[in-house]
Amino acid sequence: MSLTEATANPPPSQENSFPPPVLTLSKCILRPIHPMDAPAIQRACNSPVMAKYMSYRFPSPYTIEDAHRWIGIASSFRVPGSPDILPSLVICDPATNEVVGSIGIKTKEDVEEFSFEIGYWIREASWGKGIMTEACRAYCKWLFEMYPKVNRLEADVFEGNYASVKVLERCGFVHEGTKRKAGTKHGRVFDIWVYGLLREECELLN
Ligand SMILES: CC(C)(COP(=O)(O)OP(=O)(O)OC[C@H]1O[C@@H](n2cnc3c(N)ncnc32)[C@H](O)[C@@H]1OP(=O)(O)O)[C@@H](O)C(=O)NCCC(=O)NCCS
Repeated sequence: MSLTEATANPPPSQENSFPPPVLTLSKCILRPIHPMDAPAIQRACNSPVMAKYMSYRFPSPYTIEDAHRWIGIASSFRVPGSPDILPSLVICDPATNEVVGSIGIKTKEDVEEFSFEIGYWIREASWGKGIMTEACRAYCKWLFEMYPKVNRLEADVFEGNYASVKVLERCGFVHEGTKRKAGTKHGRVFDIWVYGLLREECELLN
């Protein structure tokens, strides 16, 4: 993992070109989202297999309008108190700059202000190549650097999503517990597995 090109605020992009990378890794680059990404996002996300372990916020079928709506949300979302950092990033093929995935956070409130929940996806054609493991590990380290008050990252994994469990465990996340029968989607009731990564655990990863 290299954070040599990690930046909070990449210079503004030309309207017709993709923004520069925030993280440059060996299998992928992570950069801010751009309206030109909409067709690649729609192609990647429009699959029931992709949606299976995602919440209803991830539509299925996934239209080009859904992609544009998501681009609007991801480009405008900021953590309260950190207006200069854009935390939602797309994961791209380093050779073509095409989107192959996405990673981002949801903030929490009140006493959980300094915990973020992370979420991510990779298009089906790119599964099993270690892309998300590499992206997630670098992204978590970047989050802790960019948000010095954050103590903890967590992920809620739907029962059965073993690929995501493998990613999280390889990034140092610990299984902290199970919210029994916490989820219901299309009538199916399932457990939600809670994973957490503390700042000091992330710092121990090389
Ligand atoms: C989960 C997801 C992001 C993983 O991305 P990825 O780039 O394929 O992940 P990686 O290649 O880094 O690692 C996945 C590992 O899980 C393994 N795996 C895949 N399916 C598995 C299964 N059913 N059981 C056990 N391991 C599995 C892969 O073989 C790989 O391990 P390996 O490197 O030892 O072969 C991707 O499958 C995805 O986008 N799924 C749909 C959206 C989603 O579920 N998001 C997460 C919500 S919590």
